[in-house]
Amino acid sequence: MFAATRIASSVAAKRAFSTSAANLSKVAVLGASGGIGQPLSLLMKENPHVTELSLYDIVNTPGVAADLSHINTNSVVKGYTADNEGLKKALEGAHVVVIPAGVPRKPGMTRDDLFNTNASIVRDLAEASAKYCPNAHFLIISNPVNSTVPIFAETLKKAGVYNPKRLYGVTTLDVVRASRFVAEVKGKDPKDCKVTVVGGHSGVTIVPLLSQTGETFTKEELDALTHRIQFGGDEVVKAKDGTGSATLSMAFAGARFANSVLEATVGGKKGVVEPSFVESELFAKEGVEYFSSNIELGPNGVEKINGLGEISDYEKELISKAVPELKKNIAKGKAFVQ
Ligand code: NAD
Ligand code: LMR
Repeated sequence: MFAATRIASSVAAKRAFSTSAANLSKVAVLGASGGIGQPLSLLMKENPHVTELSLYDIVNTPGVAADLSHINTNSVVKGYTADNEGLKKALEGAHVVVIPAGVPRKPGMTRDDLFNTNASIVRDLAEASAKYCPNAHFLIISNPVNSTVPIFAETLKKAGVYNPKRLYGVTTLDVVRASRFVAEVKGKDPKDCKVTVVGGHSGVTIVPLLSQTGETFTKEELDALTHRIQFGGDEVVKAKDGTGSATLSMAFAGARFANSVLEATVGGKKGVVEPSFVESELFAKEGVEYFSSNIELGPNGVEKINGLGEISDYEKELISKAVPELKKNIAKGKAFVQ
């Protein structure tokens, strides 16, 4: 059995390493053979900032890596399984680690119902990350994000390597959906419908700030849009009828966020703003240690956490429902590690 398959030819490798040293970046995808992992890896193979694409999963990565390695972009693709220290090899030298490893929902389940399975998967991957690439940027997709981010943080803290500027819960799909849904209602191009979404990533913890879109909504539109943004994931789970949850839209959203991190950290781009669930002061007084809001990314990761700005009474009410739920989700994640 082979564990690590070096797929790329030496010619491709030489080409990759002839790019500017400042732009060299290894991106590891953990859970790379899954529904999100495969299309996300495909999108990362197209990303010009990526020089090495390191694919790790407990199954099927050699095949996925072989397939992607034929795409004629510069990056080298390597596939690893758990054999022969595959996780160590996948992580060593990684600049960005994207984690969609874990089980998805089935109809009737909440994201929190995934906790029992995914908490230990995420903790184990965090322990390995702490050991082999403690300075990487960690992008957590695995659900329940409101708990898996605290799990990852606590595990890094235990190992003495936690850097709050480099740990991100990926909530990009919420703003991608919100933009699409508002555009549908208003008959506009989604690129002209930017929606800030704050809070967390599940049900009532997802709080769209529709008052800041520049659009006007009737009360019915506001209620329907808010509900659709908060429970958009359920639409996909229901339509997939037991075979999983959002994968393609998530890969799109995850690749967008990973690209933003790369642009800010290795591409030298200024003023990169994305939403993310990060350690945040915004609601710390209410006992909510992690919160998603727009963050400005810089060379070292999270540079600035933007406040919520002016919000409506309707949104204040949504926040008041999100806060206790977030508090519970975060405490559950922390308790799991402690
Ligand atoms: P999937 O079952 O298709 O793929 C998951 C992959 O993880 C599988 O290939 C599996 O082998 C792998 N895996 C399991 N244990 C592992 C381990 N210990 N190490 C490495 N890999 C491991 O599931 P999916 O549809 O890709 O979803 C993955 C996760 O992403 C789920 O938890 C889902 O709820 C979550 N998700 C999050 C968002 C978000 O917005 N953050 C959106 C969609 C899905
Ligand atoms: C989503 O928002 O689509 C994901 O979190 C997956 C899910 O379980 O809904």
